[in-house]
Amino acid sequence: MKKVILDVDTGIDDALAIAYAVKSKDIDLVGLTTSFGNTSLEEATRNTLQLLELMGREDIPVYPGAEKPLFRPHLKQKAAFIHGDDAMGNHSLPLPKTKPSEKHAVEFIIEMVHKHPNEITLVFVASMTNLALAIMKDPSIVEKVERVVIMGGAATVAGNATPAAEANIYTDPEAAEYVFRSGLTVTMVGLDVTMQTLLPREQIAVWREKQTPYGDFMAHIVEFYINAYQNFLPGIKGCALHDPLAIGAVINPDFIKTKPMHIQVDCEGIHSVGRTVADLRGIPANPPNVDVALEVDAEGFLEHFLSVVV
Ligand code: BDR
Ligand code: CA
Repeated sequence: MKKVILDVDTGIDDALAIAYAVKSKDIDLVGLTTSFGNTSLEEATRNTLQLLELMGREDIPVYPGAEKPLFRPHLKQKAAFIHGDDAMGNHSLPLPKTKPSEKHAVEFIIEMVHKHPNEITLVFVASMTNLALAIMKDPSIVEKVERVVIMGGAATVAGNATPAAEANIYTDPEAAEYVFRSGLTVTMVGLDVTMQTLLPREQIAVWREKQTPYGDFMAHIVEFYINAYQNFLPGIKGCALHDPLAIGAVINPDFIKTKPMHIQVDCEGIHSVGRTVADLRGIPANPPNVDVALEVDAEGFLEHFLSVVV
């Protein structure tokens, strides 16, 4: 079992990633850390607690982290048109009874990495603000982290938050650039692959037929997400499983094929702020700093994802 800390800005695909990680027999989810992004820190934390309660897993601790980018004002407000006003498809779950931990996400990350040297996999499916802050506070963690997998960026395809930038990088470009230059080995699961892992509409009925609170919730959020995707990108066959694919890459690294590349985040550009600029020339002057997922076994991943989360 791999010890995982999952950092989320709980919106809909984050919720699907949490469900996948919680239910996977290959993952020991030692804690969830939260951040602003799809919504505010407060709402992302609340959503995370609501989902854990629904799944009967209040034992998994939740640590709130950053509420704003490192250096700049929020570039992006709520992504309500994709995730709903509450960032979870305007569902009707009760407010959580459990409280988040009083410890800050950054403290928790540092503490766990030292407690379990070379054992902790950090999965970031939000901005990398909490990770950048943890490295700034204690650079020695870089040598002790087992692996970092992020959902974010786009090396060979267009952005989604803007024509150039993927949303998690756009949310805090400086944090991403800082992490990419930190010496950590980062696997980047970006739009190059996540836009190929689509959950089809037929799946909604499978959850709905279960007639359980969990099944109803999953059907509800996925229907909202697919409607949003199909409004936004007419003709698309379903919703993109962005955040779940980062978990999939931890469970089975063979779901993706990566290539070491030199990646820099554009923190200045007029039209391209937040772009992950990949040096596709691969010249020696620019040594690789990120393992970028460029291919995905979409069918194998989807089958596995559904076998776990349904
Ligand atoms: C990423 O941005 C967020 O809106 C999603 O939750 C996902 O992490 C996709 O670009
Ligand atoms: Ca996310």
